[in-house]
Amino acid sequence: MEIKITKTKTPGVMPAEDKLGFGKVFTDHMLLVDWNEKTGWHDARIQPFGRISLHPASTVLHYGAEIFEGLKAYRRADGGVQLFRPMENVKRMNRSAERMSLPEMPEEDMLQLLTEFVKLEEKWVPKSFGTSLYLRPFLFGNDEALGVHAVKNATFMLIASPSGSYYAEGINPVSIMIENEDVRTVRGGTGYAKCGGNYAASTRAGERAAKKGYSQVLWLDGVERKYIEEVGAMNVMFKIDGEIVTPMLTGSILPGITRKSCIEVLTSLGYKVNERLLSLDELVSAMESGKLEEAWGCGTAAVVSPIGKLAIGDKEYVIGGGKIGEVTQSLYDILTGIQWGKREDTFGWVYKIS
Ligand code: PLP
Ligand code: COI
Repeated sequence: MEIKITKTKTPGVMPAEDKLGFGKVFTDHMLLVDWNEKTGWHDARIQPFGRISLHPASTVLHYGAEIFEGLKAYRRADGGVQLFRPMENVKRMNRSAERMSLPEMPEEDMLQLLTEFVKLEEKWVPKSFGTSLYLRPFLFGNDEALGVHAVKNATFMLIASPSGSYYAEGINPVSIMIENEDVRTVRGGTGYAKCGGNYAASTRAGERAAKKGYSQVLWLDGVERKYIEEVGAMNVMFKIDGEIVTPMLTGSILPGITRKSCIEVLTSLGYKVNERLLSLDELVSAMESGKLEEAWGCGTAAVVSPIGKLAIGDKEYVIGGGKIGEVTQSLYDILTGIQWGKREDTFGWVYKIS
């Protein structure tokens, strides 16, 4: 795809790397590509970062036709920059698009857009371990009419944000609360797609948890409210009596790339990972009998995040003495080692940009 580049005349400067936070600072440019039913994808362009204007009837504003992705560009010690399994994000973006009746983009084109954009914004990839340039591709429908149907016009965009850790706790264990009222999504719904509405619908539970002093909620399935699905905006894994268990992908769970990578790392270390249904009842009995050894969330933003405490109603259970467990720690070390280029990538996951 040919990309027209208009560079900013007022380049910004990177704030101190220890003060970045997550998703607050943006790079000098943004990328846009338009799509319509007739012409397909056209007018790929990179231009100075700034506001965009939308027709007030634009589909995204009324019917939530929006999907996104999240991946990072990492700075290696040798100064080069690399992505982690970017094709997985590209494929998931297209699966999300299909679910939301938004246009899919040829995989090689999307990968090229990511690559070219990161090359242009390379100075914004921070250098300290644990920091990265968070890339946020997104796509929205923008028909200028109020009828409800698959859109005939859409825009793909890419913005980037030099970021530190997503959670204030970093790698320290977090406290989690079971959510009994709201559900994130249901089977047959949009859970496997990374669409904006899933996140809007999940913030109420997150806010309620925060008021009670918990970092996030543990979501149960939307049909029986019986099976564990995800933790906040992360996938979740447990070590129960030596077995590693993670909820199977039933359609309401986002197929995380970190989840997939954890499974592959653990398998390579000789662990058996069972993707199956895990009920809350089973988890509670494992906690009561002392068989729950470790619990952790996993996602691009936090990599892995140990769960130190789980509240069910008024009852609080401490997991692994409230400390990070052995498996969680080795996953963190191996994944971050590969991502920041400190460890040999025996899996072929790294995609070098420079
Ligand atoms: N689950 C949800 C709901 C998410 O938003 C994310 C983040 O992208 C994940 C899980 C983890 O997915 P990944 O590891 O691909 O970042
Ligand atoms: C993740 O990367 O794990 C996330 O959930 C990102 C979030 C900002 C949507």
